[in-house]
Amino acid sequence: MSRFESMVQSGTIVPTALSAIDWNKLGFGGIITPFIGGSVALSDGIFESISIVANGNISIPPLACCLNYGQELFEGMKANRGPDGRIRLFRIDANAARMAKGAARFMLAAPSEELYRKAIIETVKANADYVPPYGKGALYVRPILAGVGMTLNPAPSDTTIFLVTTVPVGMHYKGSSMVSIKVETDFQRAAAKGTGWVKAAGNYAPCFLPTSEAKHKGFDDLLFLNQTGTHVEEVGTANFAMIKHGILYVADSPSILPGITRDSVMRIARELLDIEVVFAPLELDRVLGLKEFAGEGPADEAFFTGTAAIISPISNINYEGKDYCLGENVGPFATKLREVLLGIQTGVMPDPFDWVTIIE
Ligand code: PLP
Ligand code: COI
Repeated sequence: MSRFESMVQSGTIVPTALSAIDWNKLGFGGIITPFIGGSVALSDGIFESISIVANGNISIPPLACCLNYGQELFEGMKANRGPDGRIRLFRIDANAARMAKGAARFMLAAPSEELYRKAIIETVKANADYVPPYGKGALYVRPILAGVGMTLNPAPSDTTIFLVTTVPVGMHYKGSSMVSIKVETDFQRAAAKGTGWVKAAGNYAPCFLPTSEAKHKGFDDLLFLNQTGTHVEEVGTANFAMIKHGILYVADSPSILPGITRDSVMRIARELLDIEVVFAPLELDRVLGLKEFAGEGPADEAFFTGTAAIISPISNINYEGKDYCLGENVGPFATKLREVLLGIQTGVMPDPFDWVTIIE
């Protein structure tokens, strides 16, 4: 029995029956898939080979480092079914590399790209029946890396679990096809020189309160600003981009997550669609058409990019109580970029970047 198998209480989490799933009504979460995959590394940092086991709770000690000191990070990927029925994974190497960078910062053992790839592919294969039909959604893949060794000292765990779980999902932003957001001026998501660039579990819980307050006021999400309140950072779950005069402006900052969707959208824009891209810190005034940008007016289009969000167009941005309307209909740039991105991800369009892995 592998170390991973001995930590999972297989069978304690009962999968949703396939017959109970309405593929036309997928939300974001709620359906349980039958299998999880994973591996455990001890103090030598070497992971054993991947085991795939029946879904179940994981037993970890009360003094597990991840529970007490937040030594945990995760990834997000999607397996899409194409119209040809085949299942495709997107940019596994980029996700593996991002997890490895985060692991180094958090002093966790990092799975090699090969082990990461195997874990993702084997877990998706085992849950293949739960990959939604083409056009209905995707199988969201959630790899997790956590320090599970006991430690009262705030010091790195001697044991790391690498775990892959999956959930069929529809759209992250439900309801309208465009989203309405509020600029957050009371809370910041990440510190300068902090760990906002890591997909660390601890970056998400602090966003719950301001995000749920914004949702109570009727907004779909929040746009966080940088530490000086002058530049756009990101949403708590996706990156930010806008279009002005045909140019794609993609917000960059050292304290945001370097999104793989963001990078893919920039490459599609530059290399396939001949769109000029400005990838730099993005002034809030430029987005809203304020101060030195007052003559220009607000962005022609704005959208979030992310694995869960895909490309989510923004209809209006509320800043200090004032609404800035960016359009009632999804703009042509967001439409085209989404079509090409999803086209590559589902095999409807060629994959000139070699981003896709087909699961046989
Ligand atoms: N920013 C944050 C905070 C996120 O959680 C995500 C989602 O993964 C993104 C940006 C977008 O990253 P990606 O495109 O790699 O999914
Ligand atoms: C993703 O897009 O993969 C994410 O991790 C966002 C999630 C927190 C909703």
